[in-house]
Amino acid sequence: MASNELYLFYHGLLLPKISHTGDSLKCFESFQMQDDDVVVVTYPKSGTTWMQEILPLLMNGGDFSKVLTIPNWDRVPWLEELRIAEVVDKLTPPRAFVSHMPYHLMPPSFFSSKAKVIYVSRNPKDVIVSSFNFHQMASFLHDPGTFEEFMDSFLSGNVLFGKWTDHVKSWRNTDLGDRILYITYEEMIKDLSGVIERILSFLGKNMNKETLKRVSEHCEFKSMKQNNMSNYSLVPQDIMDHTKCRFLRKGIVGDWKNYFTPELESKFNAVIFEELKGTDITVSWDGAHN
Ligand code: A3P
Repeated sequence: MASNELYLFYHGLLLPKISHTGDSLKCFESFQMQDDDVVVVTYPKSGTTWMQEILPLLMNGGDFSKVLTIPNWDRVPWLEELRIAEVVDKLTPPRAFVSHMPYHLMPPSFFSSKAKVIYVSRNPKDVIVSSFNFHQMASFLHDPGTFEEFMDSFLSGNVLFGKWTDHVKSWRNTDLGDRILYITYEEMIKDLSGVIERILSFLGKNMNKETLKRVSEHCEFKSMKQNNMSNYSLVPQDIMDHTKCRFLRKGIVGDWKNYFTPELESKFNAVIFEELKGTDITVSWDGAHN
């Protein structure tokens, strides 16, 4: 299918039409943020679904009912997507949302509120690999071509929500002060309980050790894979074809090494380093950037 049938352009960013419309974006722009809202912001394929599992558990004192009965997209909806209009009135405060939007496009009420943000980032080499596989199973995205071709699209920003570097830069050095917490996918892989404790402290919440252990275990890759409310198995096969690739695919750090040739690695490094020049963002290809 041609790109213009699959995507709409929003301030120069490609957004999939299946979940974004002119109306959903108007709704996003006029969204009324509340002071006790929490928004998880990610560049796509950086751990959004994972946080849609973790956050409700932390915000509700380890109550598993929501994560076991409500699909992730309705439980912690995307601010910019169509579904939010259906579910926003059913959310009980404190509300949790996700968004892929860059900082400067957030709605005015976000800036005037005291809503908190958790920005999750991931090594862009693992992001591109995850995205490449996702494009193969999602009929609402374009055929990614070869990995090399997809890398060209990724590096030029001709992919969902634009360039990775623009996204991470936009959320760096914001005016949000202590309203923002930065975590990385790699930290979550290495020490999920430790990251959960950081999030709890950021949110001003407590959890006893036993509940924290149950929450961490529930949010591990292998158990999330079994949760039909989170593994996207509820999505019809003509939209996401799980026989081609699972949404919860590998859930590891470093799968990029199976995809990058030395030439592709040099090209990727050169572009990313050039675009991060002059920022305080550093990238360690074997782990996180910070
Ligand atoms: P992979 O394709 O590398 O496996 P998003 O939700 O932002 O679209 O990101 C999807 C990526 O997060 C996928 O990466 C998915 O497997 C991974 N992921 C989701 N839940 C996870 C978990 N509990 N542990 C590790 N990775 C997880």
